[in-house]
Amino acid sequence: MLEHVLAGAGAPGLESVHVHSRPALEADAADVLAADGVVLGTPANLGYMSGALKHFFDTTYNECLGTTASLPYGMFVHGESDTAGALLAIEKIATGLDWRLAQPPRSSIGPLTESALDQCWELGAAMAAGLTT
Ligand SMILES: Cc1cc2nc3c(=O)[nH]c(=O)nc-3n(C[C@H](O)[C@H](O)[C@H](O)COP(=O)(O)O)c2cc1C
Repeated sequence: MLEHVLAGAGAPGLESVHVHSRPALEADAADVLAADGVVLGTPANLGYMSGALKHFFDTTYNECLGTTASLPYGMFVHGESDTAGALLAIEKIATGLDWRLAQPPRSSIGPLTESALDQCWELGAAMAAGLTT
């Protein structure tokens, strides 16, 4: 899914948007503060986001609070049965940060289909297009 998000964000015509991909365990508040938008991706684990993405929020929340208001964000989640808890948890945290959901969340359940991957491409492209000036 990530590869397709990145491919969409790098589509022809979007060259002015610089895209940086960070594993959740390596991303920090400076990455967010330097960004004009973020896309969050995670598997659904135990009805929630991954521990890695939760750790990202745990370690960046206070620094981002009040300094990243209105940041456009998107998200994509992959699960085997139910991604609702992960999507809701991310949305709650992002709402606490006053981030703005810029694109509909992309959720895929079960084996990844062409259509799900196309949706990820569109997510990346739409997020990047929204940041062009
Ligand atoms: C410990 C564990 C908990 C999981 N919990 C959920 C879950 O709550 N909901 C769900 O849809 N899938 C759950 N899964 C399945 C994973 O989300 C699935 O393996 C994931 O989609 C893999 O994504 P990826 O291959 O894109 O990383 C769980 C898997 C593991 C190992």
